[in-house]
Amino acid sequence: MSNHEHGHHHGEHGATPTQVLMAEHELILQALDALEARLDRMGDEPTSADRAFFEKVVEFLRGFADKCHHGKEEDLLFKKMAARGFPTQGGPIAVMLSEHQAGRAFIRGIAEGAAGIGSDPRAGEMIDRNARGYLDLLRNHIAKENQVLFPMADRTLSAEDQRDLAQAFDRFETQETGAGVHERMIGLLQELRAGAS
Ligand SMILES: [Fe+2]
Ligand SMILES: [Fe+2]
Repeated sequence: MSNHEHGHHHGEHGATPTQVLMAEHELILQALDALEARLDRMGDEPTSADRAFFEKVVEFLRGFADKCHHGKEEDLLFKKMAARGFPTQGGPIAVMLSEHQAGRAFIRGIAEGAAGIGSDPRAGEMIDRNARGYLDLLRNHIAKENQVLFPMADRTLSAEDQRDLAQAFDRFETQETGAGVHERMIGLLQELRAGAS
């Protein structure tokens, strides 16, 4: 998948809503690769450095993947698709929503595991199980959105719908996410990539 031409910034001029979301997917996939590399080299007894890494993973996944990205999908794109006749009970939107929910449970598991490092002997196993579950879930989820759901949205939404959504994305970014959060998340991602190997 090459989405580099779409740029990596929210509200970038000319990017359609699904292009914005696909650019965010690329950043999320980078974080997932860093997470996987760290899991692969984690020993049976996770260290305080592991703990710091997984706490950053949790902050990134909650702040960027879930709040910023899944927030735009759930509150804006999927709602617009529903308004244009896509079913929300059953069908692809319902599957996407339930996968977001499943992802939240995995993130909680990673956070609990990280909190137990140094005291709970099962911490490493808990992190590994939940993080690998999340990797598998989210990579498949992103592939389905990129290859199936977003093309369906782009075929269905009118040019006016696309403009409305793009503006709503910009408002979401400033109101829900808050100024400076995007930059903080990009900084976190760099730290995760640096701490992966
Ligand atoms: Fe999603
Ligand atoms: Fe997504």
